[in-house]
Amino acid sequence: MAPREGAAHTRIMSVGACRPDPVVTNADICATIDSTDEWIRERSGIESRRMAPSDVSMIDMAADAGRDALARSGLAAEEIGAVLLATSTHLRPTPSAAAVVAHRVGVAPAAAMDVAAGCAGFCHAVALGSDLVKGGTTRHVLVIGAEKLSLFLDPTDRSTAFLFADGAGAVVIGPSDRPQIGPTVWGSDGSQADVITTRSSWMQYREEPGASWPFVTMQGQSVFRWAVFAMAKAAQAALDASGVSAADLTAFVPHQANLRIIEALGKKLRLPDHVVVARDVVTAGNTSAASVPLAIDALLTAQAAGGPRVSGGLALLIGFGAGLSYAAQVVQLP
Ligand SMILES: CC(C)(COP(=O)(O)OP(=O)(O)OC[C@H]1O[C@@H](n2cnc3c(N)ncnc32)[C@H](O)[C@@H]1OP(=O)(O)O)[C@@H](O)C(=O)NCCC(=O)NCCS
Repeated sequence: MAPREGAAHTRIMSVGACRPDPVVTNADICATIDSTDEWIRERSGIESRRMAPSDVSMIDMAADAGRDALARSGLAAEEIGAVLLATSTHLRPTPSAAAVVAHRVGVAPAAAMDVAAGCAGFCHAVALGSDLVKGGTTRHVLVIGAEKLSLFLDPTDRSTAFLFADGAGAVVIGPSDRPQIGPTVWGSDGSQADVITTRSSWMQYREEPGASWPFVTMQGQSVFRWAVFAMAKAAQAALDASGVSAADLTAFVPHQANLRIIEALGKKLRLPDHVVVARDVVTAGNTSAASVPLAIDALLTAQAAGGPRVSGGLALLIGFGAGLSYAAQVVQLP
């Protein structure tokens, strides 16, 4: 067989985002749960989040973010060879959401597939996209993280109603003459599948009288402990795998699970003061697979508005969540 050679290295060429309206405040959330704006801010850092209306789907948001990233990459649509869509909120077993999104973005007949790895999905898809380019399977990959979690939130559940939200973020990955996406450190622990799951399966919902819609349920304290202790180690391992120290970083962009986890991870990694820590969760909530690209977009938007310069700097990304699963890598920001 003829060998196929890929790019020596890869990079993130551009970032795109879709932040749906309306903005939902903590006061809005407290209309259906016994809580307060103060409690939600103190325990999660969240002040507001976006929740898409009924006529805006996860696929709509993914396509918006994908079009945005493609336009900013400067590439022609036909240069995109694959679309990887990280999501856990696609409503149909088939076809993949990615195939529909590829068509909507105008990059068909690009290969298209969904990646389901909970809140870690985007960082998994970055790893896969980078390796597709290095392996020579394609030269450019559109990687999207998109969620409409509001469909799976029980508005009366005090442990989740304030936390999760909707949105989409995207990046284009392409070849580079030097390493701009580092090695991925990843893994899973299915023995803790119950820690973040849904109240019922689709089968239970269909077959069992009185079974609930598959609302997301979460053992908050177990997630918190795992996120802080195990994920600090995974993040450090990603730094080590790239030969990068915390002092070399310009930004830290962890999954926007909640602000207390983000701050605790930053402390455990002993990030120097100059490292910009993404805190998009404050106004975006936890958007699961969309949170890391949305947080990168927020840093670039802040830079354009006169905030700290992050473009060209190294950022440590880490996604973690249901599975349990996680993936982390160091990237150079576009
Ligand atoms: C969800 C989370 C904020 C809850 O905080 P917590 O301190 O663990 O809350 P607990 O469930 O232990 O409850 C503590 C108290 O707050 C109360 N409480 C729980 N939810 C509340 C709410 N929404 N509003 C007000 N009070 C609430 C409880 O009743 C309890 O009261 P008590 O001490 O009088 O019994 C926290 O566990 C967390 O951040 N977990 C990680 C979640 C996450 O990031 N998930 C995404 C991973 S991808």
